[in-house]
Amino acid sequence: MIQMIWAMDENWLIGKDNLLPWHYPKDLAYFKKMTKNSSVIMGDLTYQSLKSYYKTKPLPFKKVYVANILDASYDDAIHIKDIFKFIKETNEDIMVIGGKTIYQLMLPYADKLYITYVLKKHEGNVYFPSFDLSQFKCIDKSFEENLIFATYERIKS
Ligand SMILES: NC(=O)c1ccc[n+]([C@@H]2O[C@H](COP(=O)([O-])OP(=O)(O)OC[C@H]3O[C@@H](n4cnc5c(N)ncnc54)[C@H](OP(=O)(O)O)[C@@H]3O)[C@@H](O)[C@H]2O)c1
Repeated sequence: MIQMIWAMDENWLIGKDNLLPWHYPKDLAYFKKMTKNSSVIMGDLTYQSLKSYYKTKPLPFKKVYVANILDASYDDAIHIKDIFKFIKETNEDIMVIGGKTIYQLMLPYADKLYITYVLKKHEGNVYFPSFDLSQFKCIDKSFEENLIFATYERIKS
């Protein structure tokens, strides 16, 4: 199964200068809970961003894949040069954790979405790509101050 998780504001903003545009401890706790035993894939820029938050601490995932078209090697992650080949061939459950480029490439393959709606407008420069949410049905929704945590499943045709 391919799952995706992200947080976006009312304008679908997700990033600012390769960092998150906000600090919502409840969303960080939710992200940690949903990803801690997962094999995750992210783009190189999101990997660099996470490393700037975690510094020397290990990334808190079961297994880490980093997509980068360029040749690269990572001490604590497996380099994926062709994400389409990877996603078609893997038997693992994968959680896609960003950023914009990787979300856009992986949306057609996603079975389940975990979206945090940030009920505000923030400043930044990276937006979630537009896509057709009507292909998914909402199966769970919970509310916190300034946040909605929603889970969607792809509608089987
Ligand atoms: N709000 C949230 O939930 C959230 C979550 C994660 C990230 N973010 C934000 O998103 C922003 C980063 O997003 P981004 O789009 O700039 O970067 P990104 O998705 O993290 O990384 C893009 C990487 O993917 C590589 N790539 C492109 N096509 C590929 C393919 N077919 N196979 C393998 N690799 C491929 C690119 O390689 P090349 O450079 O060689 O093309 C590039 O290194 C940051 O601001 C971050 O804070 C927000």
